Amino acid sequence: MISLPNTVTIIEVGPRDGLQNEKNYVKTEHKLAYIRALQAAGITEMEVTSFVSPKWVPQMADANEIMARIDRLGKQFVLTPNERGMENAKTMGADHIAVFVGVSSTFNQKNINKTTAEAVEQLRAPIAELLNHNIFVRACISTAFYCPYEGKQGIDDVISLCREFVEMGVHELSVADTVGKASPLESYTLFSLLKKEFPDTLITAHFHDTEKMALANIFAALQAGVDRFDSSAGGLGGCPFAPGATGNVATERVVHMLHRMGIATGIDEDLLKEAVAVISPHVSIH
Ligand code: HMG
Ligand code: MG
Repeated sequence: MISLPNTVTIIEVGPRDGLQNEKNYVKTEHKLAYIRALQAAGITEMEVTSFVSPKWVPQMADANEIMARIDRLGKQFVLTPNERGMENAKTMGADHIAVFVGVSSTFNQKNINKTTAEAVEQLRAPIAELLNHNIFVRACISTAFYCPYEGKQGIDDVISLCREFVEMGVHELSVADTVGKASPLESYTLFSLLKKEFPDTLITAHFHDTEKMALANIFAALQAGVDRFDSSAGGLGGCPFAPGATGNVATERVVHMLHRMGIATGIDEDLLKEAVAVISPHVSIH
């Protein structure tokens, strides 16, 4: 018997994950127009930018301006790897902060210049501080299936990294197939275990679509009880430090599949297509 939720929440990551790997600098005006069009389509949760080193990810150098100029509608996340970024984000009025650490230490060294253990330790005190200030904290767990450098990751390692963040008190885990290689069986297995282990934490699935199994992985995760999915309008995206990874699963494809199964998202498919049309002329990676 197939078990499906009545409603699903989409967390749009196009303005952050979608654009961070784009080699041509996208003007702030165009990013803002994309965000506005996504809001008009009914997106209520979105990663709008990231507070990272502009030397590492030049595309996100306008994070302050994005935060100063966006219409504050719904839950707007900013992504950051460290205390410095959290402080900058708070100064700009962010009240939903996403941190990120991979299961794979090799990936973390390439992405944030730290091992997994070092990355977790340096986040502990600043996350406690965010929680004290009633800021919503989402922990993004990268390379939860495969690492571009180390290959398949152990499920016990994934669960123990997630547990570190759950014990810190984060509100949400966004668990990622960074390189887009997971199979539906791997998706069902990991997300069933996550739902069982962490029943009081929001569990979100984040699929890249390199091997074109992201929709199948979402269908498998739905059956494991997941009702929150990250996706990127236009299928843009990828991590600059995960070679071989392509874009996130496209929001318009996820929403269409969900609607065809009678699952509500609150998103207007025609307006979503307009949001894709707003950003498409300014990106080269799709
Ligand atoms: P580092 O070079 O080891 O650190 O970089 P550092 O402390 O020596 O800092 C280097 C410079 O960056 C210094 O500036 C710092 O002040 C500055 P300088 O003195 O040279 O002028 N700096 C910052 N500037 C702005 N905001 C900050 C910040 N921190 C330091 N927050 C660091 C370490 C973590 C900073 C760097 O490696 C970095 O920024 N990495 C970010 C990589 C990234 O954004 N990757 C993509 C996001 S993760 C992802 O896409 C995966 C996800 O989608 C899920 C999935 O699919 O897996 C979430
Ligand atoms: Mg990603």
